[in-house]
Amino acid sequence: MKRAILTGASSGIGAAIAGELLMLDYEVYGFGRSFPESPEENYLSALLPGVPSDRLANFHAVRFDLTKTGALAERVREIRKEGRISLLVNNAGVGYFGLHEELSPAMLHEMVTVNLEVPMLLCRLLLRDLKETGGHIIELSSVTARKSSPHGCAYGATKAALTAFSGSLFDEVRKYGVRVTCIHPDMTKSNFYRSADFGPEEAADCSLSPEDVAAAVRCVLTARDGLVVSDMTLLPQKHRIARKNQKK
Ligand SMILES: NC(=O)c1ccc[n+]([C@@H]2O[C@H](COP(=O)([O-])OP(=O)(O)OC[C@H]3O[C@@H](n4cnc5c(N)ncnc54)[C@H](OP(=O)(O)O)[C@@H]3O)[C@@H](O)[C@H]2O)c1
Repeated sequence: MKRAILTGASSGIGAAIAGELLMLDYEVYGFGRSFPESPEENYLSALLPGVPSDRLANFHAVRFDLTKTGALAERVREIRKEGRISLLVNNAGVGYFGLHEELSPAMLHEMVTVNLEVPMLLCRLLLRDLKETGGHIIELSSVTARKSSPHGCAYGATKAALTAFSGSLFDEVRKYGVRVTCIHPDMTKSNFYRSADFGPEEAADCSLSPEDVAAAVRCVLTARDGLVVSDMTLLPQKHRIARKNQKK
């Protein structure tokens, strides 16, 4: 069975990707802070609906705060003891939005750490395994990587850097048989905009669902050997943003 490390598996897009990976017969080590100490089957079946219980047994919740980068190598080393990793999905991310001068240094630091530094560190820690297994790295970037993002300058910058990193890394490792894919979703219904004064529109043609992004991951992972989907952009048919606290 192939083994995957997936960050941000406790919510939204990451949880949907975890379900897809389990159905593709991966053993999944899913990172997140908000997992209970020992998640029971009821918790997992609510987080990963539709995944049969024999597959749920292949999900390992890794309760870990990714801002604690000093402890990351040890945690990954423990997981690698169980066997080599052939898939890394860097999905965890955080976004703070507003006028740039109103974002605190702590918010900026957290975004740079979780959205950019951690993916780079995890790639570095796992590349030996990925080269040996002919493995795959998937980065969850954003459409904001490629456009101007007023009120999201720093968030957009972390994603632009992640996209640049992903492209260069693929050129560096493709001769070793490692595939690297960078996915750029538009607004997706999840908890991501909890602290923003805007969010995705409810209508299905105005925003994406986490399952849409997970289906893209399936598509990337099931491409034939020798074909690499290096870059994917996912857009809803219509471009609309919901303003919170706005009178209808
Ligand atoms: N939603 C969108 O519109 C959208 C669009 C484009 C790209 N994206 C990207 O997609 C990815 C997933 O976002 P989402 O929409 O699914 O958001 P979400 O529901 O807020 O999920 C974010 C995930 O990241 C994890 N995470 C954040 N900080 C962490 C930390 N310090 N340590 C460990 N885990 C941490 C969270 O886990 P815990 O809270 O349990 O720690 C959670 O599982 C992000 O990279 C985001 O930038 C989202």
